[in-house]
Amino acid sequence: MSSASAPGKIILFGEHAVVYGHPALAVPVTQVQATATVAQSSRRGVWIEAPNIELSSELSDLAPDHPLGAAIRSVFSTLGIDRPPACTVYIQSTIPVAAGLGSGAAVSVAVLRALSSFLDRPLPEDQVNQMAFEIEKLHHGSPSGIDNTVVTFARPVYFVKGRPIETFRVAVPFTIVIGDTGVSSPTKAVVEDVRKAWKAEPDQFEKMFASIDRIVKRARRTIESGEGTALGPLMNKNHAILQQLTVSSPELDRLVSAARSAGAEGAKLSGGGRGGNMIALVQPERTEKVSQALYQAGAKRVLITTVS
Ligand code: PMV
Repeated sequence: MSSASAPGKIILFGEHAVVYGHPALAVPVTQVQATATVAQSSRRGVWIEAPNIELSSELSDLAPDHPLGAAIRSVFSTLGIDRPPACTVYIQSTIPVAAGLGSGAAVSVAVLRALSSFLDRPLPEDQVNQMAFEIEKLHHGSPSGIDNTVVTFARPVYFVKGRPIETFRVAVPFTIVIGDTGVSSPTKAVVEDVRKAWKAEPDQFEKMFASIDRIVKRARRTIESGEGTALGPLMNKNHAILQQLTVSSPELDRLVSAARSAGAEGAKLSGGGRGGNMIALVQPERTEKVSQALYQAGAKRVLITTVS
């Protein structure tokens, strides 16, 4: 039997612009995890049990573009295994689905690791990352690759599409409160909408992406130097541009305002938007107050994480 896990992630700065080659900062969220366990089975075939999504199926019964099936098949084809042994791939995750916390990538990474270890041929991290990126395309259409990268390496990442992974140093740890709107919003649809809007008004969108680019670079300098006070205002600025990109929503805006009113230093949506999560930079002694304010403003779940 083999088990493997992968954490969730949040994007601190730079979502959407990152799809167009600009940088983004993202960090792992270890409070939530996806876990895959692969065990020998007396049933014939390769079975997938994922109670979170009420899935119980034999591999050949899954559609060719089903991300779980794709992850499992990619391990067999990469390792050149034509006749897979009878086994069950059991998947459990505490990462909310379609909420901007990287659940798809984390599940893929956990499955790739657990299955390749079960077959006694554990895949190297770079290959896991690359294979998870291919599976991300089934979730997201044209993903930047940020989710699989942060989730695979479980470290803060300064991510630029197509460039080698670059981690960054957090000089002074800081606390992020994550508020979930409870609104499910598949990233793929939002990314496609942004692409349509960008095609219609390329100059305007390029300007907004360039502003986000500057924010990301300043945020990285701020985090690396430990001068935390600039970070909150940078989050607020990034959120304002995401609103202009039309990827916020009334629910996200309500949570962002509630966090700021309760004393957060800054707040923004995180991930694909139109639902999912927002994040707030909060001094540790204010996290309780901000969490309560988020619940009062409609948050379905609040997570607190320290970035270090
Ligand atoms: O919704 P999430 O957290 O999976 O993040 C999506 C981030 C985007 O920049 C909108 C898309 C991408 O592939 O980078």
